[in-house]
Amino acid sequence: MAMESPFKADIVKGKVVLITGGGSGIGFEISTQLGKHGASVAIMGRRKSVLDAAVSALQSLGIQAVGFEGDVRKQEDAKRVIESTFKHFGHIDILVNAAAGNFLVSAEDLSPNGFRTVMDIDSVGTFTMCREALNYLKKGGHGRSSSGVGSILNISATLHYTASWYQIHVSAAKAAVDSITRSLALEWGTDYDIRVNGIAPGPIGDTPGMSKLAPDEIRSKSRENMPLYKIGDKWDIAMAALYLVSDAGKYVNGTTLIVDGGYWLSRPRDLPKEGVKQISRAVEKRSRDKPVGVPTSKL
Ligand code: COA
Repeated sequence: MAMESPFKADIVKGKVVLITGGGSGIGFEISTQLGKHGASVAIMGRRKSVLDAAVSALQSLGIQAVGFEGDVRKQEDAKRVIESTFKHFGHIDILVNAAAGNFLVSAEDLSPNGFRTVMDIDSVGTFTMCREALNYLKKGGHGRSSSGVGSILNISATLHYTASWYQIHVSAAKAAVDSITRSLALEWGTDYDIRVNGIAPGPIGDTPGMSKLAPDEIRSKSRENMPLYKIGDKWDIAMAALYLVSDAGKYVNGTTLIVDGGYWLSRPRDLPKEGVKQISRAVEKRSRDKPVGVPTSKL
């Protein structure tokens, strides 16, 4: 179902955005919505076929779009793609780090290299892209007038707020991403007026993340245990992105906005609502009649 945007169509007009992992899933929806709201879009990804298809889809919507092959794990790729984006569009205003790696694995079955691979993509990759983009985003940076500044948006997760089964590597990597968001918000917000924020999406339908982390084999089972279980739309994340990177969010810096319908707060209900009244009254009465911890001889 196509949902209409509540934002004005020109809210990011004239901005150039570079989105890692922008060819598929949440990254592609952010590319699409930023494009529909006036931005020119460069997407970075490892697979040429995915990039080509995404660029054609964006162009068919009338969006100025270009794709650059690259792996965020390679500093030379980060540098080259950022330079190419600048050469193509003349400036870079917004960097969105949406590239991520993930797979379900128990901690004891995960090799250190498997752990490192996800840290490399999500955490080190995010830092590398931010660092290489700084000279383009900052006031007076390449292609930038002294008044304009850029902003950064990092996509993370809620996995590490508590603990998530079979996600030790991604939880660690996304915790690092959130930490990077805050550190850069402090340093680059202070030194360069660059706002750095994040989004922590919950389970979002029709994404590579969802099909890898909640394949059909386990999806219905987890629904049973999670009273608040709802699947979000990619659109929900893209609208949050628009808010954070546009002037609508001009006073927001260092925040990671949870967009999950409250999913991470979900707990199985251990007592039905009707039962709680009765039990609570009975417990209260008991405690007034005979307070716990007070010696009975004094009653
Ligand atoms: N279970 C256990 N270990 C796994 C694994 C799995 N399902 N998939 C990969 N690994 C391990 C590999 O065994 C390897 O470790 P080793 O050298 O000790 O054996 C390490 O991870 C790297 O794997 P490799 O296949 O060489 O990495 P890659 O660079 O080709 O791919 C991934 C990176 C593994 C993250 C891959 O899933 C990917 O490209 N993901 C991007 C898309 C994605 O995950 N999207 C979802 C976003 S939420």
